[in-house]
Amino acid sequence: MGSLLTILMLIATLGSLATHADGRVIAMPGAGASTGLKLPKSFQSVQDRFSNLNIDDHFVIHFYVHETVSGENRTAWPVATSNITDPPTFFGLTQVVDHLLTFEPDEDSPAGRLQGTRTFTDLHQPALSVNLHFLNDWGPFREVISVQGRFSVFDKVRELSVVGGTGIFTMARGYALSAPYTVNLGSGIIVDEYVLIFRREG
Ligand SMILES: *[C@@H]1O[C@H](CO)[C@@H](O)[C@H](O)[C@H]1NC(C)=O
Ligand SMILES: *[C@@H]1O[C@H](CO)[C@@H](O)[C@H](O)[C@H]1NC(C)=O
Repeated sequence: MGSLLTILMLIATLGSLATHADGRVIAMPGAGASTGLKLPKSFQSVQDRFSNLNIDDHFVIHFYVHETVSGENRTAWPVATSNITDPPTFFGLTQVVDHLLTFEPDEDSPAGRLQGTRTFTDLHQPALSVNLHFLNDWGPFREVISVQGRFSVFDKVRELSVVGGTGIFTMARGYALSAPYTVNLGSGIIVDEYVLIFRREG
């Protein structure tokens, strides 16, 4: 009974993933896709490394993350600082985040939330250690894909690790790429683009 339920959940969730196959979910295991991953253009500087990837073994999911940087509805809140938290490194500043996650650059294609913590952990340049959870609520179940790594604020492409997941993403292992997409000083919204490339077990 337990395993039947698991299979039904898997089918339901894969079904809802497949409905987003129009460029949102770039690849799914077993989809019969050909070898070679074509990354969105923000990631061209690392494209070569993925040109021979066997994407038929991988999930590749494309997200946009919307951060509101100020005001009462800001989506990153400071919770701690160190004695030397100052520009330009902000060393020690720790924030808790809960950002909107979408499949498209605008806000009208909600995929879920990106929740977690981040701390400035470099004494010499602005760079964060991040602990982020991509919470999927586009399907019937609320799976999580967990990402960790070092996020250098001014890098054009930041490379992070997919370290785990829940539900159909259990034992997820792989890569996350992040690039700045837009910075709108008027609205105070920063949009970052992410591609998650990973395998899972079971
Ligand atoms: C913050 O969000 C609430 C609820 O959605 C909204 O009513 C309010 O106008 C927002 N405030 C700002 C400054 O955007
Ligand atoms: C940190 O700052 C506080 C007050 O701002 C001061 O009392 C304390 O001695 C400082 N600690 C260190 C280790 O510098």
